[in-house]
Amino acid sequence: MVNTKVMLCGIELDNPVIPASGTFGFGYEFAELYDINCLGTFSFKGTTKDPRFGNPTPRIAECESGMINSVGLQNPGVEAVIAEELPKLKKCFSKPVMANVSGFSVEDYAYTCEKLDGQEQIGWLEVNVSCPNVHGGGMSFGTSPEAAAQVTKAVKAVTKKPVIIKLSPNVTDIVSIAKACEDSGADGISLINTLLGMRIDLKTRKPVVANKMGGFSGAAIKPVALRMVYQVSEAVRIPVVGMGGVSNAEDVIEMIMAGATAVEVGAANLVDPFACRDIVENLPKVMEKYGINNLNEIKGCAHNG
Ligand code: FUM
Repeated sequence: MVNTKVMLCGIELDNPVIPASGTFGFGYEFAELYDINCLGTFSFKGTTKDPRFGNPTPRIAECESGMINSVGLQNPGVEAVIAEELPKLKKCFSKPVMANVSGFSVEDYAYTCEKLDGQEQIGWLEVNVSCPNVHGGGMSFGTSPEAAAQVTKAVKAVTKKPVIIKLSPNVTDIVSIAKACEDSGADGISLINTLLGMRIDLKTRKPVVANKMGGFSGAAIKPVALRMVYQVSEAVRIPVVGMGGVSNAEDVIEMIMAGATAVEVGAANLVDPFACRDIVENLPKVMEKYGINNLNEIKGCAHNG
């Protein structure tokens, strides 16, 4: 019997499979389809200080081997997440959940993280400095080492739970940003968020997405994600959560071989709501096929030699 357990920032996961923020709601929506306790954990929808309606529609464009989204951080705001979403989740999920947080100022991030840090259901804070779909926030904090460090320090000053900083691939030097977060106290790094992209409708001669551009995700971005997970895990000592184009158990193992401790699954949940359940079920079989008894024995093995 193979062992799928991994340790993420001091908390044991039954397996490394984590549905990514923005593709799994607040979990209870998927609990209508299957028992979500089979997951390692999941990262809930990006939460901000105030409620957000999100961007104008259309917000989604299909692409070859992927999709573009420009949701714009639609969410009910941190007070409603605590009062309404977490109680609903508690009825169907007994494991610690990952809280995904976005902001428009350093103070916003600190405010929302401090509120969520007080919730016993939450195991980790995933601080998103990489949303490409909003102006004056999100990705603008994740494209410079200084800004990412400022957010990290402010959040760490008001929280006790592990803080994982979610990074953007839309940068020239991902390693310097990851290291700045580590040096500022981050407990982990997750990457990659979406790649900024666009599509144009030949009939209307206009961008498909109302916001013109959006975040490109899906199978097509996996090689970029693997490369960045590999580079960052070589440079930092804190755990790395890999994501980007993961859609099956083989992809999970590839991410761990690149250096990831755990693996988030995004767009695949939107193609098939059972994707993560199936990955969890298949992981032991794929491990057996490749002679892997324990995921820790392959973590970062691609760096050897
Ligand atoms: O627009 C969105 O809500 C997506 C956020 C993200 O990609 O971080």
